[in-house]
Amino acid sequence: MTRDAAPSFTAPSAESIRTVPVPLPGRAYDVRIGAGLLDRAGTEIAPLLARPRVAIVSDAHVAGLHLETLRDALAAAGIASDALTLPPGEATKSWRCLEEVSAFLLESRVERRDVVIALGGGVIGDLVGFAAAILRRGVRFVQIPTSLLAQVDSSVGGKTGINTVHGKNLIGAFHQPSLVLADIAMLDTLTPRDFLAGYGEVVKYGLLGDAAFFDWLEEHGAAAAAGDRAARLRAVERSVQMKAEIVLRDETEQGDRALLNLGHTFCHALEAATGYSDRLLHGEGVAIGCALAFELSARLGLCPQEEPSRVRAHLKAMGMKTDLADIPGDLPAADALLDLMGQDKKVIDGRLRFVLARGIGQAFVTSDVPGDAVLDLLRDRLP
Ligand code: GLY
Repeated sequence: MTRDAAPSFTAPSAESIRTVPVPLPGRAYDVRIGAGLLDRAGTEIAPLLARPRVAIVSDAHVAGLHLETLRDALAAAGIASDALTLPPGEATKSWRCLEEVSAFLLESRVERRDVVIALGGGVIGDLVGFAAAILRRGVRFVQIPTSLLAQVDSSVGGKTGINTVHGKNLIGAFHQPSLVLADIAMLDTLTPRDFLAGYGEVVKYGLLGDAAFFDWLEEHGAAAAAGDRAARLRAVERSVQMKAEIVLRDETEQGDRALLNLGHTFCHALEAATGYSDRLLHGEGVAIGCALAFELSARLGLCPQEEPSRVRAHLKAMGMKTDLADIPGDLPAADALLDLMGQDKKVIDGRLRFVLARGIGQAFVTSDVPGDAVLDLLRDRLP
């Protein structure tokens, strides 16, 4: 735990900052996207505060890169901050760390009207959002997502939670942030592998509901991966717009929000089969899962045969994993993988729910998928 006084700092002015509103009744918020938002964090967050102090939770890796900048920016706006730094990695989304965050927030005297800041990727955002949801029966929080995956998916929409021995994200709450600051300059510090894993979620948005965005990604995805700020801004903005539209229609996933799970039924089985390890990052599993979902859709006669080839071609052109054979090490047999899909949260009355597609940009949710078709697909694609 670190709790140092923050030095003063002058934040630079904003350039090319986009705002995507999430106008949920009674808990509307903005997602602000652009380069340099971290330097402006004090100015951005100040209007939310009842008194000029916040508590920040981050992980050691992100804190080393960005915590000082954040605290300087807050201090420049006259905002004092306490900070807690946790170990990086999925294991941090645990009961133990939830207890540690809760103790820190209580010891920092965070009150009902105060604001907690989650500075990090999806792990920190989910954990801190959940801690904020239950602290004093709910305090507000601000997401400052530092990974591409967190900027385009997990920081928006209010899903928060932790993992248990029973599975991932099984304990949690819907708790919307009060503001999201997605500083695309922070993406410069990602490894190419982490960037591309996040890009798996970006592609997902084109595939599930915006064919024109997928066309755009085919043309500009490589530039985004190479660091082009304008391409990154557009990719994050369009992804967040699509997520916001879906969350507005179905905040608690009674229907349409399940579209966001395109590729995830396959992905969750693959993550379980690879022990949630470095062998397969979540976004890599999403990309492979999207390719498999399109292949399954084509095999079921729902979409033209060319569509899965086009999906795979783009992923391959981006240098991403596209198939089961691209996952290092051995995988379980097809029937064991199908079994792992049965453990997924998206099982209803024992029936697997899949997101399939009638074409690029035309996804839909169905429980009407013959298990044999899934088995045949897995058998054919396993190396
Ligand atoms: N990541 C999927 C969702 O937010 O619903």
